[in-house]
Amino acid sequence: MRHAPIDSQLFAANRERLRKLLPPHSLAVVNANDVLPTNADGSLPLVPNSDLFYLAGIEQEESLLVIAPDAFDEKLREVLFVRQPSEHLKIWEGYKLSKEDATKASGVKNVKWLSEFDTLFRGLMVDAEQVFLNSNEHKRRDSQVETRDARFVRRLQESYPLHSYRRLAPLLHRLRLVKSKAEVDLLQKAVNITNDGFRRVLGFVKPGVNEVEIEAEFIHEFTRQRARFAYNPIIASGENACVLHYNQNDKPCRKGDLLLIDVGASYANYNADLTRTIPVSGKFTRRQKVIYNAVLRVMRASIAGATVGKLHRDWTKESQMMMNEELLALGLIKKSDVKKQTEETPACRKYFMHGLGHPLGLDVHDVGQVSEPIAEGWVLTVEPGIYVPQEKIGIRLENDILVTAKGPVDLMAKIPVEAEEIEALMRR
Ligand code: GLY
Ligand code: MN
Ligand code: MN
Repeated sequence: MRHAPIDSQLFAANRERLRKLLPPHSLAVVNANDVLPTNADGSLPLVPNSDLFYLAGIEQEESLLVIAPDAFDEKLREVLFVRQPSEHLKIWEGYKLSKEDATKASGVKNVKWLSEFDTLFRGLMVDAEQVFLNSNEHKRRDSQVETRDARFVRRLQESYPLHSYRRLAPLLHRLRLVKSKAEVDLLQKAVNITNDGFRRVLGFVKPGVNEVEIEAEFIHEFTRQRARFAYNPIIASGENACVLHYNQNDKPCRKGDLLLIDVGASYANYNADLTRTIPVSGKFTRRQKVIYNAVLRVMRASIAGATVGKLHRDWTKESQMMMNEELLALGLIKKSDVKKQTEETPACRKYFMHGLGHPLGLDVHDVGQVSEPIAEGWVLTVEPGIYVPQEKIGIRLENDILVTAKGPVDLMAKIPVEAEEIEALMRR
Protein backbone atom coordinates (compact mmCIF):
# COMPACT_ATOMS: atom_id res chain seq x y z
CA MET A 1 0.00 0.00 0.00
CA ARG A 2 1.46 3.29 -1.08
CA HIS A 3 -0.77 5.68 0.82
CA ALA A 4 -0.60 6.49 4.53
CA PRO A 5 -2.67 4.14 6.72
CA ILE A 6 -6.36 5.06 6.89
CA ASP A 7 -8.31 4.96 10.15
CA SER A 8 -10.35 1.76 9.88
CA GLN A 9 -13.30 3.60 11.40
CA LEU A 10 -14.13 4.77 7.86
CA PHE A 11 -14.65 1.17 6.71
CA ALA A 12 -16.37 0.07 9.93
CA ALA A 13 -18.86 2.94 9.49
CA ASN A 14 -19.48 1.88 5.89
CA ARG A 15 -20.20 -1.70 6.97
CA GLU A 16 -22.60 -0.36 9.56
CA ARG A 17 -24.40 1.69 6.89
CA LEU A 18 -24.75 -1.45 4.76
CA ARG A 19 -26.02 -3.55 7.65
CA LYS A 20 -28.83 -1.05 8.14
CA LEU A 21 -30.01 -1.65 4.58
CA LEU A 22 -29.98 -5.46 4.78
CA PRO A 23 -33.19 -7.34 5.65
CA PRO A 24 -33.15 -9.84 8.58
CA HIS A 25 -31.07 -13.02 8.16
CA SER A 26 -29.14 -11.70 5.17
CA LEU A 27 -25.73 -12.73 4.04
CA ALA A 28 -23.63 -10.40 1.85
CA VAL A 29 -20.36 -11.20 0.07
CA VAL A 30 -17.88 -8.97 -1.74
CA ASN A 31 -14.86 -10.29 -3.64
CA ALA A 32 -11.54 -8.72 -4.60
CA ASN A 33 -10.86 -8.06 -8.28
CA ASP A 34 -8.84 -10.52 -10.33
CA VAL A 35 -5.24 -9.90 -11.25
CA LEU A 36 -5.73 -9.66 -15.03
CA PRO A 37 -3.39 -11.47 -17.43
CA THR A 38 -1.51 -9.75 -20.26
CA ASN A 39 0.77 -11.87 -22.50
CA ALA A 40 3.00 -14.85 -21.73
CA ASP A 41 3.35 -14.90 -17.93
CA GLY A 42 2.61 -11.21 -17.53
CA SER A 43 -0.15 -9.58 -15.55
CA LEU A 44 -1.50 -6.10 -14.94
CA PRO A 45 -1.09 -4.50 -11.54
CA LEU A 46 -4.10 -5.26 -9.34
CA VAL A 47 -6.82 -2.60 -9.40
CA PRO A 48 -8.45 -2.90 -5.97
CA ASN A 49 -12.17 -3.66 -5.97
CA SER A 50 -13.92 -0.41 -5.03
CA ASP A 51 -16.68 -2.10 -3.04
CA LEU A 52 -14.26 -4.26 -1.07
CA PHE A 53 -12.14 -1.19 -0.35
CA TYR A 54 -15.21 0.80 0.65
CA LEU A 55 -16.29 -1.86 3.14
CA ALA A 56 -12.93 -3.12 4.38
CA GLY A 57 -10.01 -0.99 3.14
CA ILE A 58 -8.47 -4.13 1.67
CA GLU A 59 -6.35 -3.98 -1.50
CA GLN A 60 -5.04 -7.54 -1.67
CA GLU A 61 -5.98 -10.03 -4.39
CA GLU A 62 -8.22 -13.03 -3.62
CA SER A 63 -9.66 -11.43 -0.45
CA LEU A 64 -13.34 -11.85 0.44
CA LEU A 65 -15.58 -10.04 2.89
CA VAL A 66 -18.62 -11.79 4.35
CA ILE A 67 -21.27 -9.89 6.32
CA ALA A 68 -24.01 -11.82 8.15
CA PRO A 69 -25.54 -9.38 10.67
CA ASP A 70 -27.80 -11.96 12.32
CA ALA A 71 -25.42 -14.92 12.39
CA PHE A 72 -26.00 -17.02 15.50
CA ASP A 73 -22.29 -17.08 16.25
CA GLU A 74 -21.42 -13.43 16.91
CA LYS A 75 -17.85 -13.98 15.68
CA LEU A 76 -19.19 -14.80 12.23
CA ARG A 77 -21.18 -11.58 11.78
CA GLU A 78 -18.33 -10.13 9.78
CA VAL A 79 -15.44 -12.19 8.52
CA LEU A 80 -12.61 -11.26 6.22
CA PHE A 81 -10.85 -14.03 4.28
CA VAL A 82 -7.31 -13.44 2.98
CA ARG A 83 -4.53 -15.51 1.41
CA GLN A 84 -2.32 -17.24 3.89
CA PRO A 85 1.23 -15.83 3.63
CA SER A 86 3.87 -18.48 2.96
CA GLU A 87 7.62 -18.65 2.42
CA HIS A 88 6.99 -19.25 -1.28
CA LEU A 89 4.75 -16.17 -1.62
CA LYS A 90 7.18 -14.14 0.41
CA ILE A 91 10.04 -14.95 -1.95
CA TRP A 92 8.10 -14.45 -5.20
CA GLU A 93 5.50 -11.81 -4.45
CA GLY A 94 6.68 -10.28 -1.20
CA TYR A 95 4.58 -9.06 1.65
CA LYS A 96 1.02 -10.36 2.16
CA LEU A 97 -1.37 -9.33 4.92
CA SER A 98 -1.08 -11.15 8.23
CA LYS A 99 -4.31 -11.59 10.17
CA GLU A 100 -3.27 -8.74 12.46
CA ASP A 101 -2.54 -6.44 9.50
CA ALA A 102 -5.89 -7.26 7.92
CA THR A 103 -7.69 -6.44 11.16
CA LYS A 104 -5.76 -3.22 11.54
CA ALA A 105 -6.60 -2.10 8.00
CA SER A 106 -10.27 -3.09 8.02
CA GLY A 107 -11.43 -3.07 11.62
CA VAL A 108 -12.81 -6.60 11.05
CA LYS A 109 -11.83 -8.62 14.11
CA ASN A 110 -12.34 -12.06 12.63
CA VAL A 111 -9.84 -12.68 9.83
CA LYS A 112 -9.55 -16.20 8.38
CA TRP A 113 -7.36 -17.83 5.76
CA LEU A 114 -9.00 -18.61 2.44
CA SER A 115 -8.53 -22.33 3.05
CA GLU A 116 -11.17 -22.08 5.80
CA PHE A 117 -13.74 -20.41 3.58
CA ASP A 118 -15.82 -23.32 2.28
CA THR A 119 -16.51 -24.86 5.66
CA LEU A 120 -17.27 -21.62 7.48
CA PHE A 121 -19.35 -20.28 4.64
CA ARG A 122 -21.50 -23.40 4.46
CA GLY A 123 -22.65 -22.83 8.04
CA LEU A 124 -23.61 -19.25 7.24
CA MET A 125 -25.41 -20.23 4.03
CA VAL A 126 -27.58 -22.79 5.77
CA ASP A 127 -28.85 -20.12 8.18
CA ALA A 128 -29.27 -17.35 5.60
CA GLU A 129 -32.62 -16.39 4.14
CA GLN A 130 -31.36 -13.98 1.49
CA VAL A 131 -27.93 -13.91 -0.08
CA PHE A 132 -26.75 -10.53 -1.42
CA LEU A 133 -24.09 -10.96 -4.09
CA ASN A 134 -22.13 -8.27 -5.87
CA SER A 135 -21.89 -7.42 -9.55
CA ASN A 136 -20.78 -4.52 -11.68
CA GLU A 137 -23.99 -2.65 -12.45
CA HIS A 138 -22.47 0.55 -13.80
CA LYS A 139 -24.75 1.73 -16.62
CA ARG A 140 -21.88 2.10 -19.08
CA ARG A 141 -19.97 -1.06 -18.21
CA ASP A 142 -19.07 -2.81 -21.44
CA SER A 143 -16.76 -5.79 -20.97
CA GLN A 144 -16.55 -9.41 -22.03
CA VAL A 145 -14.40 -10.34 -19.05
CA GLU A 146 -16.08 -12.22 -16.23
CA THR A 147 -15.26 -10.81 -12.80
CA ARG A 148 -14.36 -12.76 -9.70
CA ASP A 149 -17.71 -11.68 -8.22
CA ALA A 150 -19.51 -13.06 -11.30
CA ARG A 151 -17.72 -16.42 -11.04
CA PHE A 152 -18.59 -16.53 -7.36
CA VAL A 153 -22.28 -15.98 -8.18
CA ARG A 154 -22.22 -18.91 -10.62
CA ARG A 155 -20.44 -21.14 -8.16
CA LEU A 156 -22.92 -20.42 -5.38
CA GLN A 157 -25.93 -20.86 -7.62
CA GLU A 158 -24.59 -24.28 -8.59
CA SER A 159 -23.78 -25.32 -5.04
CA TYR A 160 -26.88 -23.84 -3.38
CA PRO A 161 -29.58 -23.76 -6.08
CA LEU A 162 -32.51 -23.36 -3.68
CA HIS A 163 -31.28 -20.17 -2.00
CA SER A 164 -32.77 -16.78 -2.71
CA TYR A 165 -30.18 -14.49 -4.30
CA ARG A 166 -30.38 -10.71 -4.40
CA ARG A 167 -28.40 -7.83 -5.89
CA LEU A 168 -25.97 -6.11 -3.54
CA ALA A 169 -24.97 -3.46 -6.10
CA PRO A 170 -28.03 -1.18 -5.76
CA LEU A 171 -27.43 -0.96 -2.01
CA LEU A 172 -23.75 -0.17 -2.44
CA HIS A 173 -24.49 2.38 -5.15
CA ARG A 174 -26.89 4.18 -2.84
CA LEU A 175 -24.29 4.28 -0.06
CA ARG A 176 -21.28 5.18 -2.15
CA LEU A 177 -22.98 8.15 -3.80
CA VAL A 178 -23.01 9.99 -0.45
CA LYS A 179 -19.51 10.70 0.80
CA SER A 180 -18.54 10.86 4.47
CA LYS A 181 -16.18 13.47 5.89
CA ALA A 182 -13.28 10.96 5.85
CA GLU A 183 -13.93 10.20 2.18
CA VAL A 184 -14.08 13.90 1.27
CA ASP A 185 -10.74 14.37 3.04
CA LEU A 186 -9.20 11.65 0.87
CA LEU A 187 -10.74 13.15 -2.27
CA GLN A 188 -9.35 16.54 -1.26
CA LYS A 189 -5.91 14.97 -0.87
CA ALA A 190 -6.16 13.57 -4.42
CA VAL A 191 -7.23 17.03 -5.63
CA ASN A 192 -4.30 18.70 -3.85
CA ILE A 193 -1.80 16.33 -5.46
CA THR A 194 -3.42 17.02 -8.83
CA ASN A 195 -3.02 20.75 -8.16
CA ASP A 196 0.71 20.24 -7.51
CA GLY A 197 1.04 18.31 -10.77
CA PHE A 198 -0.78 21.02 -12.71
CA ARG A 199 1.31 23.84 -11.23
CA ARG A 200 4.49 21.92 -12.08
CA VAL A 201 3.28 21.60 -15.67
CA LEU A 202 2.45 25.32 -15.91
CA GLY A 203 6.15 25.98 -15.44
CA PHE A 204 7.14 23.32 -17.95
CA VAL A 205 4.93 23.77 -21.03
CA LYS A 206 6.36 25.75 -23.93
CA PRO A 207 6.41 25.36 -27.71
CA GLY A 208 8.27 22.21 -28.79
CA VAL A 209 7.57 20.22 -25.64
CA ASN A 210 5.96 16.87 -26.43
CA GLU A 211 2.65 15.83 -24.86
CA VAL A 212 4.39 12.74 -23.53
CA GLU A 213 6.90 14.87 -21.61
CA ILE A 214 4.00 16.65 -19.92
CA GLU A 215 2.56 13.27 -18.94
CA ALA A 216 5.95 12.43 -17.41
CA GLU A 217 5.86 15.58 -15.27
CA PHE A 218 2.53 14.46 -13.83
CA ILE A 219 3.85 10.93 -13.21
CA HIS A 220 6.81 12.35 -11.34
CA GLU A 221 4.66 14.54 -9.09
CA PHE A 222 1.98 11.89 -8.50
CA THR A 223 4.39 9.05 -7.77
CA ARG A 224 6.47 11.23 -5.47
CA GLN A 225 3.29 11.90 -3.48
CA ARG A 226 2.30 8.21 -3.36
CA ALA A 227 -0.49 8.60 -5.89
CA ARG A 228 -1.20 7.25 -9.37
CA PHE A 229 -3.17 8.38 -12.40
CA ALA A 230 -6.90 8.11 -11.69
CA TYR A 231 -7.45 7.31 -15.40
CA ASN A 232 -5.53 7.48 -18.65
CA PRO A 233 -4.58 11.15 -18.87
CA ILE A 234 -5.64 13.24 -21.85
CA ILE A 235 -2.87 15.61 -22.88
CA ALA A 236 -4.11 17.03 -26.12
CA SER A 237 -2.62 19.96 -28.01
CA GLY A 238 -4.18 21.79 -30.95
CA GLU A 239 -6.84 19.82 -32.82
CA ASN A 240 -6.23 16.75 -30.60
CA ALA A 241 -8.24 18.59 -27.91
CA CYS A 242 -11.37 18.03 -30.01
CA VAL A 243 -10.97 14.24 -29.71
CA LEU A 244 -12.81 13.68 -26.45
CA HIS A 245 -10.98 10.50 -25.39
CA TYR A 246 -7.60 11.34 -26.95
CA ASN A 247 -4.82 9.59 -25.07
CA GLN A 248 -1.98 8.94 -27.49
CA ASN A 249 -0.27 11.94 -25.87
CA ASP A 250 2.59 11.80 -28.38
CA LYS A 251 2.53 15.05 -30.37
CA PRO A 252 4.75 18.10 -30.03
CA CYS A 253 2.98 21.20 -28.68
CA ARG A 254 3.05 24.00 -31.22
CA LYS A 255 3.30 27.75 -30.70
CA GLY A 256 -0.12 29.39 -30.67
CA ASP A 257 -2.01 26.16 -29.94
CA LEU A 258 -4.06 25.40 -26.88
CA LEU A 259 -3.30 22.39 -24.71
CA LEU A 260 -6.16 20.52 -23.03
CA ILE A 261 -5.09 18.57 -19.96
CA ASP A 262 -7.60 16.15 -18.37
CA VAL A 263 -5.62 14.52 -15.55
CA GLY A 264 -6.39 13.39 -12.03
CA ALA A 265 -4.47 11.78 -9.22
CA SER A 266 -5.78 8.75 -7.37
CA TYR A 267 -4.76 8.70 -3.72
CA ALA A 268 -5.78 5.74 -1.53
CA ASN A 269 -8.12 4.76 -4.40
CA TYR A 270 -9.97 8.09 -4.20
CA ASN A 271 -9.88 9.96 -7.49
CA ALA A 272 -9.57 13.55 -8.62
CA ASP A 273 -10.73 14.55 -12.10
CA LEU A 274 -9.36 17.86 -13.37
CA THR A 275 -9.41 19.54 -16.77
CA ARG A 276 -7.58 22.72 -17.64
CA THR A 277 -6.87 24.25 -21.02
CA ILE A 278 -3.76 26.40 -21.32
CA PRO A 279 -1.93 28.26 -24.11
CA VAL A 280 1.24 26.46 -25.27
CA SER A 281 3.00 29.82 -25.73
CA GLY A 282 1.93 31.11 -22.33
CA LYS A 283 -0.55 33.65 -23.70
CA PHE A 284 -4.06 33.10 -25.05
CA THR A 285 -4.95 34.71 -28.37
CA ARG A 286 -7.90 37.07 -28.20
CA ARG A 287 -10.21 34.48 -29.80
CA GLN A 288 -9.01 31.69 -27.51
CA LYS A 289 -9.58 33.84 -24.45
CA VAL A 290 -13.09 34.85 -25.49
CA ILE A 291 -14.11 31.19 -25.87
CA TYR A 292 -12.19 30.23 -22.71
CA ASN A 293 -14.08 32.78 -20.65
CA ALA A 294 -17.39 31.55 -22.05
CA VAL A 295 -16.58 28.02 -20.81
CA LEU A 296 -15.41 29.41 -17.47
CA ARG A 297 -18.67 31.33 -16.96
CA VAL A 298 -20.70 28.17 -17.68
CA MET A 299 -18.52 26.15 -15.28
CA ARG A 300 -18.90 28.70 -12.48
CA ALA A 301 -22.64 29.07 -12.94
CA SER A 302 -23.05 25.29 -13.10
CA ILE A 303 -21.05 24.87 -9.88
CA ALA A 304 -23.34 27.37 -8.19
CA GLY A 305 -26.35 25.55 -9.66
CA ALA A 306 -25.51 22.15 -8.14
CA THR A 307 -27.88 22.45 -5.23
CA VAL A 308 -29.66 19.97 -2.99
CA GLY A 309 -32.94 18.69 -4.37
CA LYS A 310 -32.33 19.53 -8.04
CA LEU A 311 -32.46 16.73 -10.58
CA HIS A 312 -29.16 16.06 -12.36
CA ARG A 313 -31.10 16.20 -15.61
CA ASP A 314 -32.41 19.70 -14.86
CA TRP A 315 -28.97 20.85 -13.71
CA THR A 316 -27.56 19.68 -17.06
CA LYS A 317 -30.37 21.38 -18.97
CA GLU A 318 -29.70 24.69 -17.20
CA SER A 319 -26.07 24.56 -18.22
CA GLN A 320 -27.01 23.73 -21.82
CA MET A 321 -29.23 26.81 -21.91
CA MET A 322 -26.34 28.94 -20.61
CA MET A 323 -24.09 27.38 -23.19
CA ASN A 324 -26.60 28.26 -25.93
CA GLU A 325 -26.37 31.91 -24.88
CA GLU A 326 -22.57 31.82 -24.90
CA LEU A 327 -22.44 30.17 -28.32
CA LEU A 328 -24.89 32.74 -29.72
CA ALA A 329 -22.67 35.54 -28.41
CA LEU A 330 -19.62 33.84 -29.95
CA GLY A 331 -21.38 33.61 -33.29
CA LEU A 332 -21.02 29.82 -33.35
CA ILE A 333 -24.78 29.16 -33.42
CA LYS A 334 -27.74 31.23 -34.62
CA LYS A 335 -31.11 32.05 -33.06
CA SER A 336 -32.71 29.76 -35.65
CA ASP A 337 -30.60 26.85 -34.27
CA VAL A 338 -32.04 27.49 -30.82
CA LYS A 339 -35.57 27.59 -32.24
CA LYS A 340 -35.03 24.20 -33.88
CA GLN A 341 -33.56 22.51 -30.79
CA THR A 342 -35.33 19.58 -29.17
CA GLU A 343 -35.19 18.12 -25.68
CA GLU A 344 -32.61 15.51 -26.77
CA THR A 345 -30.56 17.76 -29.04
CA PRO A 346 -30.05 21.22 -27.57
CA ALA A 347 -28.53 23.75 -29.96
CA CYS A 348 -25.22 23.70 -28.05
CA ARG A 349 -24.78 19.95 -28.74
CA LYS A 350 -22.75 20.68 -31.87
CA TYR A 351 -19.97 22.30 -29.77
CA PHE A 352 -20.66 20.84 -26.31
CA MET A 353 -21.46 17.21 -26.98
CA HIS A 354 -20.75 15.47 -23.66
CA GLY A 355 -22.34 15.40 -20.22
CA LEU A 356 -21.99 18.22 -17.70
CA GLY A 357 -20.68 16.08 -14.87
CA HIS A 358 -20.71 12.77 -13.04
CA PRO A 359 -20.36 11.44 -9.50
CA LEU A 360 -16.74 11.00 -8.41
CA GLY A 361 -15.25 8.83 -5.69
CA LEU A 362 -13.62 5.40 -5.57
CA ASP A 363 -14.44 5.22 -9.27
CA VAL A 364 -13.88 8.13 -11.62
CA HIS A 365 -17.32 7.74 -13.15
CA ASP A 366 -18.58 6.72 -9.75
CA VAL A 367 -21.53 4.45 -9.06
CA GLY A 368 -24.88 5.83 -7.88
CA GLN A 369 -28.28 6.67 -9.29
CA VAL A 370 -28.19 10.20 -10.62
CA SER A 371 -31.92 9.96 -11.32
CA GLU A 372 -32.30 10.70 -7.59
CA PRO A 373 -32.33 14.42 -6.69
CA ILE A 374 -28.88 15.85 -5.95
CA ALA A 375 -28.20 15.40 -2.25
CA GLU A 376 -25.85 16.51 0.48
CA GLY A 377 -22.60 14.57 0.38
CA TRP A 378 -22.54 13.97 -3.36
CA VAL A 379 -19.23 14.74 -5.05
CA LEU A 380 -19.69 15.74 -8.67
CA THR A 381 -17.51 16.90 -11.52
CA VAL A 382 -18.56 20.02 -13.44
CA GLU A 383 -17.05 19.93 -16.91
CA PRO A 384 -18.45 22.11 -19.68
CA GLY A 385 -16.50 22.49 -22.92
CA ILE A 386 -16.58 24.10 -26.33
CA TYR A 387 -14.93 22.24 -29.22
CA VAL A 388 -14.38 24.02 -32.56
CA PRO A 389 -12.19 21.70 -34.67
CA GLN A 390 -12.19 24.07 -37.68
CA GLU A 391 -10.41 26.62 -35.46
CA LYS A 392 -8.19 23.98 -33.78
CA ILE A 393 -9.78 25.00 -30.50
CA GLY A 394 -10.94 22.53 -27.85
CA ILE A 395 -11.56 24.00 -24.41
CA ARG A 396 -12.86 22.10 -21.40
CA LEU A 397 -12.68 23.10 -17.75
CA GLU A 398 -13.47 20.60 -15.04
CA ASN A 399 -13.67 21.04 -11.27
CA ASP A 400 -14.77 18.64 -8.55
CA ILE A 401 -17.37 19.83 -6.06
CA LEU A 402 -19.02 18.67 -2.86
CA VAL A 403 -22.74 19.29 -2.49
CA THR A 404 -23.70 20.58 0.96
CA ALA A 405 -26.87 21.96 2.53
CA LYS A 406 -25.23 25.39 2.49
CA GLY A 407 -24.42 25.14 -1.21
CA PRO A 408 -21.67 23.62 -3.34
CA VAL A 409 -18.08 23.56 -2.10
CA ASP A 410 -15.47 23.69 -4.85
CA LEU A 411 -12.76 21.16 -3.95
CA MET A 412 -10.62 22.64 -6.73
CA ALA A 413 -10.96 26.29 -5.70
CA LYS A 414 -7.17 26.50 -5.26
CA ILE A 415 -6.33 25.24 -8.74
CA PRO A 416 -5.61 28.15 -11.10
CA VAL A 417 -8.37 28.71 -13.64
CA GLU A 418 -8.57 32.44 -14.49
CA ALA A 419 -6.92 32.99 -17.89
CA GLU A 420 -4.76 35.81 -16.50
CA GLU A 421 -3.59 33.74 -13.54
CA ILE A 422 -2.59 30.90 -15.85
CA GLU A 423 -0.69 33.33 -18.08
CA ALA A 424 1.08 34.83 -15.07
CA LEU A 425 2.11 31.41 -13.73
CA MET A 426 3.37 30.34 -17.15
CA ARG A 427 5.46 33.53 -17.47
CA ARG A 428 7.33 32.73 -14.25
N1 GLY B 1 -11.54 12.20 -17.16
C1 GLY B 1 -12.75 11.58 -17.46
C2 GLY B 1 -13.88 12.50 -17.36
O1 GLY B 1 -13.67 13.69 -17.31
O2 GLY B 1 -14.98 12.11 -17.23
MN1 MN C 1 -11.85 14.56 -16.64
MN1 MN D 1 -14.96 13.92 -15.51
